[in-house]
Amino acid sequence: MQALSELDLYHLPIEDPAFAANPWPHFDAARAKHPWLASCNLGAVIHDYGAMRDLFARDDMRPPYAGVVELLGMQGTPWGRFTSEQMISLPEDQHKKLRDTFAAKFTPRFANQLRPMMVATITKLLDEWAPKGKIDFEMFASHFPISVMFGLVGAPVDAVPLLRDDLEAIGLAHSYELDRFPRIQEGMVRLEKFVDEIIAERRAKPRADGVEDLLELLIRTADEGEINHRQLADLIMFFFIAGYDTSKNVLTFIMYTLLDHPDIYRRCAEDIDYCRKVVEEGLRWFNPSTVARFADDDVTYRDVLLPKETMLFFPLSISGHDPKAFPDGDRFDPERPEKRHIAFALGKHMCLGQYIARAQIQEALHQVARRMREPRLAGEIHWRPFMGAWGLRGLPIEFTPA
Ligand code: HEM
Repeated sequence: MQALSELDLYHLPIEDPAFAANPWPHFDAARAKHPWLASCNLGAVIHDYGAMRDLFARDDMRPPYAGVVELLGMQGTPWGRFTSEQMISLPEDQHKKLRDTFAAKFTPRFANQLRPMMVATITKLLDEWAPKGKIDFEMFASHFPISVMFGLVGAPVDAVPLLRDDLEAIGLAHSYELDRFPRIQEGMVRLEKFVDEIIAERRAKPRADGVEDLLELLIRTADEGEINHRQLADLIMFFFIAGYDTSKNVLTFIMYTLLDHPDIYRRCAEDIDYCRKVVEEGLRWFNPSTVARFADDDVTYRDVLLPKETMLFFPLSISGHDPKAFPDGDRFDPERPEKRHIAFALGKHMCLGQYIARAQIQEALHQVARRMREPRLAGEIHWRPFMGAWGLRGLPIEFTPA
C-alpha cells in the first residue's frame, strides 16, 4: 500500500486559462504517469473512468461545499448560506429525506410531458434569433434553459434577462475566483427573492387550468413530505442554478462539435430520435462538470491510501475520453455502442434533473437544426474556467436562416 503523498503524480495546472482551452495533453500525460490519479493545487484528481465509477459508489466521501464556503470565508453571505444548505450539502439523513421525497417524481415520463412546452419555448426564441443569420450561439443558448425553467414554474418572462445575467455570474462561483463574488452575492439575493415570490404567488393563486407544472408538483410534493419553505425554495433555486450553465454549455458544445459534422447536423433537423443519440454522444464527448468530494475517513482504493480530509476532484468532463473505457473515444459517433457516460455523475447525488436536461437539449437541437441551416464558425472562441461548469465563452456562427 502506498500513501497519496508518496506517489509521483502529474500536476494538472487546472487554474491556468490555457488548461481550460486544451486540457487533453495534460490528461494524457497524467495517465502516462499514474493509471488513475493526478494532483492539482486544491487536492487529488481522479482521471480514470473506472475509478470515478468505483469511488462514486462509496459512502465514505461527501460533497465538500459547506467546507468550501468556510475556506473562502463566505459564511453568512447569501451565496455562503445557500451553498452550505443546498440539497447537495445537507447532512446525509436530511439529504435522503429531500431526495426520497422528490426523486420519484423526476421520471423520464414527467420530462416527456414537458416537451411541448420546451418546443414552444425554443420556437419562440428561434423566431427572434434565427432570422439574424449571424449570432453568438452561446448567448442564444443561454436564454433557453432559463426560459424553459420559467415556463416550468409559470413565472413571468420579463424577469428572464436579469436572472440570466445573475445565473451567468453565479455559475462561475465554483471556479473559486474571489473577485467574482460581489456580483455573485448580488445575484443570489435577487434569485432568492424571486423564488420566494413565485412560491408565495402560487400558493395564493393555484393554476386555474388544473395543469400540474413543475412548481405545482414541487409545492404539492413538499407539503405531502413535510418539507419546509426554506428547503423547498432552496431546491427551486438549486434547479435554476444546476440547470442553467450545464444545459447551456452542453448545447453550445454540441453545436460547436457539429460544425465539423454537417451530415450529423442535417440529420438532427429531420429526426428527433436521432437527436437523442447525438445528445448522449455529446454528453460523453464533452460535459461541463468537475465535481468534488471530501474524504470523511481514510479511503483505501487500488492499494493507495487517500488520507482523511483529502479533497478529491472528479473531472466528469473528460471521463468520456478515457481510452480504457471508450476505445476510439476521440471520434464523435452517435452510433457508438458504449453509452455509459457519467455526465450526470453516479450514486446518491446523481443528477435529479437529468431527464429534464436531456429532453430540453434534444428538443432544442432538433429545432435549432431545422431553423439554422449550414452553420459555420464566424469568429474566435474562448473558454470558461475548467473547474465548476466548463464550456465555451462565446460561439460566433453564421448560418442560413430557414
Ligand atoms: C446537461 C445538464 C446537466 C448536467 C451535465 C448536470 C450534472 C449534474 C451532476 C454532475 C450532478 C452531481 C453533482 C455532485 O455529485 O457533486 C448533478 C446534481 C444535481 N442536478 Fe444536475 N445537471 C444538469 C442539469 C440539471 C437540471 C436541468 C436540473 C434541474 C431541473 C438539475 C438538478 C440537479 C440536482 C437537484 C442535483 C443534486 C442531486 C442530489 O444532491 O441528490 N440538473 N447534476
